[in-house]
Amino acid sequence: MKVGIAGSGLIVDTLFDFIGNLKQIEIVAIVATSRSIDKLNKLSKEHDIKYVYTDYRLFLENKEFDTVYLDVPNHLHYLMAK
Ligand SMILES: NC(=O)c1ccc[n+]([C@@H]2O[C@H](COP(=O)([O-])OP(=O)(O)OC[C@H]3O[C@@H](n4cnc5c(N)ncnc54)[C@H](OP(=O)(O)O)[C@@H]3O)[C@@H](O)[C@H]2O)c1
Repeated sequence: MKVGIAGSGLIVDTLFDFIGNLKQIEIVAIVATSRSIDKLNKLSKEHDIKYVYTDYRLFLENKEFDTVYLDVPNHLHYLMAK
């Protein structure tokens, strides 16, 4: 499964505690806002994530992942999933 992650907050840190052990999952891309660019670049380097975005619409244009893991505030879940 190729995954794109939306969000780089607290729960993403927890996700990275174990996801590297799941060999069938590859994290291809990550997105948050420009406020988090330093954190995004750090996660990208540490976990070998190919693409970093600060715009969710641009992130969705990437065809290299088939699944999105939403780690954003609850009020964005429906809009982003839709
Ligand atoms: N924390 C927990 O213990 C916990 C446990 C279970 C479930 N959850 C769930 O996990 C989800 C995320 O929680 P969290 O604690 O990780 O929240 P958080 O630390 O506040 O992180 C939220 C992330 O969403 C990003 N974000 C906000 N608006 C965005 C947008 N328009 N486009 C792209 N990214 C955007 C934020 O980026 P910026 O910083 O750049 O705004 C940030 O990286 C929530 O649904 C929460 O209920 C959390």
